[in-house]
Amino acid sequence: MFKIENLCKTFSDLDSKIDVLKDISLQIKSGEKVVIVGPSGSGKSTLLRCLNGLEKPSSGHVIFNGIDINSSEKNLNSERKKVGMVFQKFNLFPHLTVLENIMLAPKLIYNCEIRNSEKRAIELLSRIGLADKKDVYPAKLSGGQQQRIAIIRALLMNPEVLLFDEPTSALDPEMILEVLLLIKDLALTGLTMVIVTHELSFAKKIASRIIFMNDGRILEDTTPEEFFEEPKCERAKEFLNKLSYKI
Ligand SMILES: Nc1ncnc2c1ncn2[C@@H]1O[C@H](COP(=O)(O)OP(=O)(O)O)[C@@H](O)[C@H]1O
Ligand SMILES: [Mg+2]
Repeated sequence: MFKIENLCKTFSDLDSKIDVLKDISLQIKSGEKVVIVGPSGSGKSTLLRCLNGLEKPSSGHVIFNGIDINSSEKNLNSERKKVGMVFQKFNLFPHLTVLENIMLAPKLIYNCEIRNSEKRAIELLSRIGLADKKDVYPAKLSGGQQQRIAIIRALLMNPEVLLFDEPTSALDPEMILEVLLLIKDLALTGLTMVIVTHELSFAKKIASRIIFMNDGRILEDTTPEEFFEEPKCERAKEFLNKLSYKI
C-alpha cells in the first residue's frame, strides 16, 4: 500500500537547517497495524505528515498504491482522500456543529453523495453513543468525545488507511480509555492503520508491527513481542526503561 523510498525531510530557515527525516525506507501492507514509537522530536509526526501529503519530502518518494503522491497536484489530491488522519488536538471546527464537522469533507469533496453520507454520519455517531450530540458545538463536549468524533469524521471518507498522531496525548487521563477502545475496535475491522502513540500497553495489544524512531531514523522495525521483550538497540532499551518507570 505504502512504499516509502529514501525519504528525507529538511526544515530550513534563514540561519538554521535541521534534518528531521534521514533516509527513511519502509513498506506498509494493506491491513497492517503499524505503531510508531520514539522520543519527542524524532520525526514521527513529520513522517505521518509526509504519508498524507501534508509535508513534501526534500528528497525521496512516498508511493501510495503505486502512485508517487508528490508527482503532481492531481495525484496528491486523489490519493490524499484515501488517507485519513487523526490529530492530537482533534482539530474540530469550533463554529460548526458535530454533524457539520463530520459532513464537511464529504460535502466539499463528494458533493453529490451528501444524503448518503449524512445517514452514515448518524450511524457512526450512534455506534459511539453520541447521536444525541449531533447538533451541539465541540466546546460543549469532553476531549474524549471530541476525539472520537474526529475519528468518525475521518472514517466517513472511507479511507484505505488511517493515520493517528498521538490521538490520546491531549486528553485527560479519564478520557484516554474510550478513545483507545474505539481505535481497537477499528483495528478489528481490517483497516490499515499507522499509529504514533506513547501508550505502550495499547501498542503491545494492537500492533502487528512496531517501528522505533530516533533522530530521524528507523532504528527498529519488528514485531511487538520482539520489541518489548528484546529490543535490539540500546536507544530503544533506554526509551522503554524511561517509559515504564516505577517510583
Ligand atoms: N514545520 C517545521 N519547521 C521547522 N521545524 C520543524 C517543523 N516541523 C517539525 N520540525 C522539527 O522537526 C523535528 C521533529 O519533529 P516531529 O516530526 O514533530 O517529531 P515527533 O513527532 O517525533 O516529536 C523537531 O525538532 C521539530 O522541531
Ligand atoms: Mg509528534
